[in-house]
Amino acid sequence: MIRALVPGSFDPPTNGHLDVIERCVGIFDEVGVAVIANPSKSSLFTAEERMEMLRECCGDWPNVVVDSFSGLLVDYAQQAEAQVIVKGLRAMTDFDYELQMSQMNRHLTGIVTLFIATKPEYGYLSSSLVKEVAKLGGAIDALVPEPVAAAMKERLA
Ligand code: PNS
Repeated sequence: MIRALVPGSFDPPTNGHLDVIERCVGIFDEVGVAVIANPSKSSLFTAEERMEMLRECCGDWPNVVVDSFSGLLVDYAQQAEAQVIVKGLRAMTDFDYELQMSQMNRHLTGIVTLFIATKPEYGYLSSSLVKEVAKLGGAIDALVPEPVAAAMKERLA
């Protein structure tokens, strides 16, 4: 049984995140979506709200479990008995930092990190840009799942 973790801030979850999670659903026995409870950047949604949105968006996938963590990701991965961390890569700009984190995580516990290339049409997509566009009145409906778009509209109203 291979359990993979897809960790992130998910503030908010985007179509790019869901694309990576969906790929994992078809590859791994179990997929843990791990929401960091206190991201370094100040968040628009609480961890509970981010988890709730993810649960709604992942509802069709029976092998997805949404949870939150704080502290080191590798400690959480051990506790959750996950063998693999999965990260989405949008472009080379993601690569340097993601490679560094994966090597640090490997150093800490030996855990494997796998990278999934995101869909090209989501290459420009990030939670921070979605928040900026939404705050300034732009359309985000094509960028995030429907429950997330609704939650964003309510939060920014
Ligand atoms: O969605 P993000 O903001 O790119 O997610 C980053 C996240 C949460 C995966 C990363 O910051 C993380 O793993 N934080 C947990 C703390 C930790 O383990 N730090 C050492 C990383 S080598």
